[in-house]
Amino acid sequence: MNASSKAQIFDTIDQQILATASFILAVAEDAINTRGRFNFVLSGGSTPAPLYKKLALPPYADAMPWNVTHFYWGDERIVPPEHEGSNYGQARRLLLDLIQARTENLHRIKGELSPIGAASDYSERLSTLSDLSGDGTLFDLVLLGLGSDGHTASLFPGSMKEEERIAFAIAVSADYGGRPAHRVTLTPRAINRSRHVVFLVSGSEKANAVKQSISGEFDLQRWPAHRIHPDSGEINWMLDADAGALLHTA
Ligand code: 6PG
Repeated sequence: MNASSKAQIFDTIDQQILATASFILAVAEDAINTRGRFNFVLSGGSTPAPLYKKLALPPYADAMPWNVTHFYWGDERIVPPEHEGSNYGQARRLLLDLIQARTENLHRIKGELSPIGAASDYSERLSTLSDLSGDGTLFDLVLLGLGSDGHTASLFPGSMKEEERIAFAIAVSADYGGRPAHRVTLTPRAINRSRHVVFLVSGSEKANAVKQSISGEFDLQRWPAHRIHPDSGEINWMLDADAGALLHTA
């Protein structure tokens, strides 16, 4: 593995969100200064909601280089964009509409298509991005969540599909928390072409998955986060006290 991994544990969710927003701003500024564009992958789930709200307010709303920030998604449920379960829809309501993100900067996964159609549409878009980047890097920062079962994006525990090694995005089907089961996810192949990966995780129900994902016995099938090791980047785990509670115990 080339990636370095660092875990920070915050006493409160407010502190965790503030530190994550500041980190995103710093990465965005560096990306703009060096490459003129910030490629930012958003995650779904409930954990990033306060982060999106924070980014939509001053000082971040004013400081972030939104005009040259391009938004991508780590995964999407196969529902239309206006559906309450749409990850794109959530980001629109909490952040993108408020900062008046440019339509041409939104590279969403089209949940209104069939799973295979949406995966192939998104993969094509990412291939174009890869061609543009010169060194094959796709993203400046990928934001990920973690399920209590250990899934991240929509990479669920279990045997890995061969396509995961070949494509940038694939269709998957999995039940979790009553959420829409048909999904499209970035593959590790795509996520690992990132300069920074941030796992934002809170809640005691995630504590074991956090511990296993960070320091458990290496098991790509049981703990999908073990598949994440950005080629030239780093992984930052931003945890609240509950999610990080088991990290330093024997
Ligand atoms: C999704 C996600 C998924 C999420 C985890 C954690 O679309 O469901 O992107 O990977 O991050 O399920 O979800 P919570 O933040 O709601 O716990």
